[in-house]
Amino acid sequence: MPTSCTSHVLVTGGSGFIGSHTVLELINQGHKVVVVDNLSNSCEEPLRRIEKLAGLNEESLPFHNVDLANIDDLRAVFKQYNFSSVIHFAALKAVGESVRVPLAYYRNNITGTLNLMDLMIEFGVKDIVFSSSATVYKSDPDGRPFREDSELGCTSPYGRTKLYMESIIRDVVGAESGWNAIMLRYFNPTGAHESGTMGEDPCQIPNNLMPYVSQVAIGKLDNVHVFGNDYNTRDGTGVRDYIHVMDLAEAHVIALERLTGNHGYEVFNLGSGAGQSVLEMIDAMSIACGHKIPYVVDPRRSGDIDTIVCDPKKANEVLGFKVSRDLTKMCTDLWRWQVANPEGYNQ
Ligand code: NAD
Ligand code: UFG
Repeated sequence: MPTSCTSHVLVTGGSGFIGSHTVLELINQGHKVVVVDNLSNSCEEPLRRIEKLAGLNEESLPFHNVDLANIDDLRAVFKQYNFSSVIHFAALKAVGESVRVPLAYYRNNITGTLNLMDLMIEFGVKDIVFSSSATVYKSDPDGRPFREDSELGCTSPYGRTKLYMESIIRDVVGAESGWNAIMLRYFNPTGAHESGTMGEDPCQIPNNLMPYVSQVAIGKLDNVHVFGNDYNTRDGTGVRDYIHVMDLAEAHVIALERLTGNHGYEVFNLGSGAGQSVLEMIDAMSIACGHKIPYVVDPRRSGDIDTIVCDPKKANEVLGFKVSRDLTKMCTDLWRWQVANPEGYNQ
């Protein structure tokens, strides 16, 4: 018997960038949350900020510093609570690093998911929302928007772990009765909570465009390196579909609530459906911070393609989800976070 009878949502990776914003939104929508994270790419400070923003007592948000690879430690958490559902964010996510150390990615992401699914079966927890990615789609040379039924195919070990994790979950839903699973394929998350107290805190020099741009804007880095201006796009730079992290957080709450409708296994894209180029993002961020952000043009980054945008129709129609925060809001919120937290959570 669990120590706690109250029904909780287990959030793995809940102190990370997207997880922490989602935890705040879940609490604000009345859900009880338990966070499990091994802090390999985060720290506990976002949890303290969540407590403040949600009006909770300090250190009252249940948190367990557990590695999903350790099934006994994870089992102890399952024993302690009565979980109704799981949102599974915990994963390593750096594409380049995954090419250098593929086994670390397979071990962490796949073993963690296998252990989690084993325990969900053991404890009769049958509802899961999973963090997937646009990276699971096979690249389209014509840059057409990806639909959920577009062809799949990955080019990096990281991408393959996401595809395998989706497959593991789909196979469990097929084999067991009463399971519901929603795969959310995010496009390019950015922005921050509008309070300026929560945001993305890359542990090293950022790999992704927007945290890099924001660190140049505040003077921590010298120039943005634009990876190629000879793509087949309107200004020659790569086009991506950016989505505000709070829109993503809201989509997770909608997805979680849909699980109770017994729809089995479902997949949804989460993006705006519109694409912005690298130069357009630098311009938008320059407006947000009030000064020109310097950049230099470098050669293309290996593995990048012209355009990655989603068709958001299925999420609009089935989940009733539509992004509500535009590019200006993404950049002003990102800038507010950057100015208030120049060293991220390590103040
Ligand atoms: P993040 O690194 O900020 O968060 C992931 C969290 O998981 C971290 O706090 C990390 O410490 C934790 N973690 C990793 N391995 C763990 C393990 N074995 N046990 C326990 N905790 C572990 O990343 P994020 O940007 O918040 O991404 C969350 C999820 O969304 C990831 O699964 C990622 O693959 C996916 N995703 C992210 C993006 C993006 O651009 N940020 C795009 C598409 C999909
Ligand atoms: N870019 C630069 N300079 C940088 C970083 C990026 O010019 O310093 C360009 C890239 O070439 C690309 C665009 O900015 O055209 C976006 O690059 P990101 O690295 O920010 O994002 P990606 O689209 O490459 O990948 C991200 C995540 C993946 C996820 C994918 C989903 O890193 O994990 O979005 O679309 F799968």
